[in-house]
Amino acid sequence: MAEERWTAVDEYVSGLLAPHDEALEAALRRSDEAGLPAIQVSPPQGKQLHLLARSIGASSILEFGTLGAYSTIWLARALPADGRLITLEADPRNAEVAGRNIAAAGLAHLVDLRVGPAFDLLPQLEAEDAGPFDLVFIDADKIHTPDYFAWSLDRTRPGGLIVSDNVVRFGELADPKSDDPTIPAQRRLHDLIAADPRVEATTIQTVGCKGYDGFNLALVVG
Ligand code: SAH
Ligand code: DHB
Ligand code: MG
Repeated sequence: MAEERWTAVDEYVSGLLAPHDEALEAALRRSDEAGLPAIQVSPPQGKQLHLLARSIGASSILEFGTLGAYSTIWLARALPADGRLITLEADPRNAEVAGRNIAAAGLAHLVDLRVGPAFDLLPQLEAEDAGPFDLVFIDADKIHTPDYFAWSLDRTRPGGLIVSDNVVRFGELADPKSDDPTIPAQRRLHDLIAADPRVEATTIQTVGCKGYDGFNLALVVG
């Protein structure tokens, strides 16, 4: 019952405020046809990422975990004509679908899709002196969220945002003895943020068509 209501509200909100156009619709269709799991952000969450990027005038975005590029499309649509979004995806099959979706959405000139485990790609980005970033969206392998966060924090400008997805996990976040192997990482993320004066942050619990989860929103202040 609860999940049905959450989904109904997501559908109501997205119908009015985050409607899908042909490119977003086609991206989900291609992802589904290719057998990708439907674990992308919800439409209202995609719209939220888009609004966050726009509200800080983001022109440089980094994303960990592309899947079929659904969140990538929402974020890239917030960029100015000379903006850039780098997105990192470990699975070449996902990346192939993502590449097609990005091209079909007319965003290939803004999006730089890199294929490989993020840990292997980060030294490359360092060598290229990529960044500083205005916004980072961390949504890849959850056990490494705090590591990606620490790397990103060094390379996000003051006033920039780091959004980490899936940090609440059905409320398991509050349980230090949780069986969910990703929870120690999410708690490490919170410890790290709490101890670092360069960042001000909060975590918001969410319900919706993706169940009960939440995200951390961190503002880089120095
Ligand atoms: N951001 C996407 C969903 C990402 S799902 C959206 O909302 O539309 C998580 C993705 O992270 C998967 O595609 C998975 O293959 C990828 N991934 C897992 N481990 C990774 C790693 N070590 N480096 C980069 N990507 C990884
Ligand atoms: C999973 C990954 C996600 O990024 C998400 O938002 C939900 C679920 C997963 O790996 O199951
Ligand atoms: Mg996610």
